[in-house]
Amino acid sequence: MKIDILTLFPKMFKGPFDESIVKRAQEKKLVEVKIHNLRKWAKDKHKTVDDRPFGGGVGMVLMIEPIYKALKELRQKDSKVILLTPQGKGFNQKLAKNFSKEKHMIFICGHYEGVDERIREHLIDEEISIGDYVLTGGELPAMVVIDTLVRLIPGVLEKPEAIKNESFSTKTLEYPQYTRPANFKGWKVPETLLSGNHKKIAAWRKKKSLERTKKRRPDLL
Ligand code: ADE
Repeated sequence: MKIDILTLFPKMFKGPFDESIVKRAQEKKLVEVKIHNLRKWAKDKHKTVDDRPFGGGVGMVLMIEPIYKALKELRQKDSKVILLTPQGKGFNQKLAKNFSKEKHMIFICGHYEGVDERIREHLIDEEISIGDYVLTGGELPAMVVIDTLVRLIPGVLEKPEAIKNESFSTKTLEYPQYTRPANFKGWKVPETLLSGNHKKIAAWRKKKSLERTKKRRPDLL
């Protein structure tokens, strides 16, 4: 998959994409991430990409022209263009799964008080929010969305079976996990998990998973 990111803060992406699974996915050529400074497509010498809102009001609005020009250069026939804002549709594992099948994704990181509405109306495929809270910009949300979808691309994870049982891949939250020691200061691992009886273990996990979901996220059931 090819991923292009349009941002006013390219340096923010350095750390998260240069570590761990996303880094390995790039090394394995399963994903190619390019980060672009939106100011590259500004037309004046001050590299302006925002302006005051028509009708007045506080804050600045992201202009349509730099985004239009950037997309004219980057968009291909099969590109999916995502705008990140708090007003977008809520991101979840199902969307991540669908995104992981795309060939080319372009992420536009919103900033300021908002974006010119015509960007929404004419230039993008989907507007996404990562949750009901407001961040300073779309950069962290873009990183969250990209991290989530990259690990779902076939070949990225060493053990793809891990995805099958994890929270949100099924309708229930993942069951509790334990590792050695079996007894830590008297805090013991449930006997069933040490029994070696796979049927019993599977039943225990299913039960715990359901109990946990009922308690924490009944909305999922
Ligand atoms: N930009 C600011 N807050 C955001 C959010 N919650 N989701 C996506 N983009 C955002």
